[in-house]
Amino acid sequence: MRLLVTGGAGFIGSAFVRLALKENWVARLVNLDKLTYAGNLENLTSVEGDARHRFVQGDICDTTLAARLLEEETPDAIVHFAAESHVDRSILGPGAFVETNVRGTFSMLEAARAAKTPRFLHVSTDEVYGSIDEPHDADENYPLRASSPYSASKAGSDLLALSYCTTFKMAVTVTRASNNYGPFQFPEKLIPLMISNALEDKPLPIYGDGMQVRDWLYVDDHCRAIWAALTKGAPGEIYNVGGSRALPNRTVVEMILDACGKPHSLMTTVKDRPGHDRRYAITTEKLEQATGWQALMPFEEGLRETIAWYKANPGWISRVRSGEYQNYYERNYSAR
Ligand code: NAD
Ligand code: DAU
Repeated sequence: MRLLVTGGAGFIGSAFVRLALKENWVARLVNLDKLTYAGNLENLTSVEGDARHRFVQGDICDTTLAARLLEEETPDAIVHFAAESHVDRSILGPGAFVETNVRGTFSMLEAARAAKTPRFLHVSTDEVYGSIDEPHDADENYPLRASSPYSASKAGSDLLALSYCTTFKMAVTVTRASNNYGPFQFPEKLIPLMISNALEDKPLPIYGDGMQVRDWLYVDDHCRAIWAALTKGAPGEIYNVGGSRALPNRTVVEMILDACGKPHSLMTTVKDRPGHDRRYAITTEKLEQATGWQALMPFEEGLRETIAWYKANPGWISRVRSGEYQNYYERNYSAR
C-alpha cells in the first residue's frame, strides 16, 4: 500500500508512521505535516534513512501542495491525522481549530476528490458525542453534541468527510477514538503533563473535582485500529476505537504519582475547564466484529511503559517545553 499521511510528526501520526514502516504495512509513505508546536521531527528519528518515508513540511490548507503530492505519489489512501488537538488551546483561541480542522480537512478532501485517491481515512474523536450520562455508552449512531471549539471543529470535519462519501461516492472511512496515551505525547495532555510535572516535583493541576471520566487507549492500539479500519473496514462506515478502560482523572493521576514514587500531596485542585465534558464512554464492538481488532495493552502496563519512556527522555521533554509551550502553560494555568 502507498499512503499519504497528514500530521505524521505529531503524537499519534508519528506512532502510526513508525508502526507502518516497522510492520511493513506500506511500500511508500508520504508524510505531510506543518510542524506546528505539536509536530516534532524528533518523533521520527527511528525512521530516518528509510527510503520508503518522505517527509514534506506543509499546510493541509494548501490544496495546491496536496494536489501536487497526490499527483507525484499516487497513494492508494490518505490517512488524515493533522489537526489542532488540544481542548484547552481551543478555549484560549478557537480560530486555528476552525482553520486547520475544518478548512484543512476540506482542502484534503478536495485534493483527494480531484486526484481520485481510492481511500480516505479521517481520524476523528469520541469527543464529537459530547458528555455521555451513565449508564449509556455511545455507539456510532449516538447523536453528536460537541462541547468545545475543538470537538465542534472535529465534528464538522467528521461530517464533511462523510458527506464526500454520500455525495461524491468517495471511499471515506471515519474512526472516532478515545483518549490516547503513550510515548512522544506532548506534555499538555493529562497523562504526559502529570508525568512530567511529577518527575520534576511540580504541582499536578486537577481541573475541578477530578471525577471526570476518560477511556484510555494505548497509542499503538489506536494505530492498529486505524490500519484495520482502512484495510478491513467498509467505506462510508464510522468505527469507534476505545481502550475499554474508563477511569476518573483523579485515579489516573494517583496511579501516576504512585508509579513515580511521589506523594499525592503534589495534586492541586485548580479552576475547572469551561464546558468540561463529564464522561466519555464508547462501544467498540462494531470495529471488533468488522475487523477482528482488539485493544491489547492493559492500562497499568501501558502507563508503566509510558512513565519509563518519559523518565528515559528528559531531553525530549525539555526541548518540546522550551519556547512557545512556556507561553501556553503560563496563559492556561496562571488564571486558574
Ligand atoms: P498532535 O497535536 O500531537 O499532532 C498534530 C499534528 O498535526 C502535528 O504534527 C502538527 O504539526 C500537525 N498539524 C497541525 N496543523 C497542521 C496543518 N495545518 N497542516 C499540516 N499539519 C498540521 O495530535 P494527536 O494527539 O497526535 O492527534 C492526531 C489526530 O487524532 C487528530 O486529528 C486528533 O483530533 C485525533 N485524536 C486524538 C486523540 C488523542 O487522545 N490525542 C484521540 C482521538 C482522536
Ligand atoms: O477523547 C478523545 C480526546 O481526548 C481527543 O480527541 C483530544 O485530542 C485529546 O486531547 C483528549 O481530549 P481531553 O480533553 O479528554 O484530554 P486532556 O488530556 O486535555 O484532558 C483529559 C482530562 O483531564 C479532562 O477531563 C481534563 C483533565 N485535565 C487535563 C489537563 C491538561 C486536568 O484535570 N488537568 C489538566 O491539566
